[in-house]
Amino acid sequence: MSRSTADAHSIRPATLADVPAILHILAASPSAPQWSAAEFHEILTSSTADQPLQRAVWIAEAADSAAGFAVSSVLRSVHPAEAELENVAVLPGCRGQGLGRALVETVATWSAACGADALRLEVRAGNAPARSVYAAAGFVPSGRRPGYYANPTEDAVCMTRTIHPVGNKTGVA
Ligand SMILES: CC(C)(COP(=O)(O)OP(=O)(O)OC[C@H]1O[C@@H](n2cnc3c(N)ncnc32)[C@H](O)[C@@H]1OP(=O)(O)O)[C@@H](O)C(=O)NCCC(=O)NCCS
Repeated sequence: MSRSTADAHSIRPATLADVPAILHILAASPSAPQWSAAEFHEILTSSTADQPLQRAVWIAEAADSAAGFAVSSVLRSVHPAEAELENVAVLPGCRGQGLGRALVETVATWSAACGADALRLEVRAGNAPARSVYAAAGFVPSGRRPGYYANPTEDAVCMTRTIHPVGNKTGVA
């Protein structure tokens, strides 16, 4: 699919009104971690920048509707802060247009603004497309957790991307 449509999308922080759309994207993305509405409500209502662990949800919009999302977290109680890309998925019909990459870059920028010097993630060893997407975004394998995932049991591949902390302007309260 052409990447010429990539300019037509935008990334913004999620609100509670986005939860149904996020669940719709998840339902169409069985290889992504399957979280409940309650988990997204919890993140969106109780995560703030004054807590040791801050989490954020991001929406990728295409044609004025939610087509992808990402969840990130940063642990500020250690120095440097530890950042993680916890989840990311794009509607099947919108993949290959740069939305996933834009979500990853937004999470990397947010993580750097939170003071992290690296962005980490775990991915199913057999999720070759996602591993390729992460490699294209600058992540390198940094470890393996045997049998980490259930249903089905599968190893997790840990991947890390170096980022450059730039202060504390996160854009998310
Ligand atoms: C992973 C996912 C979010 C990527 O989203 P996307 O919008 O299709 O990704 P992009 O179009 O931004 O592509 C990003 C890069 O990965 C590459 N890429 C995309 N899909 C690919 C695939 N299936 N195989 C190999 N490379 C791929 C692109 O060429 C691009 O590289 P570039 O930036 O150097 O040009 C999407 O495939 C998805 O939702 N998968 C199902 C859910 C999932 O498995 N999530 C990961 C859980 S850990």
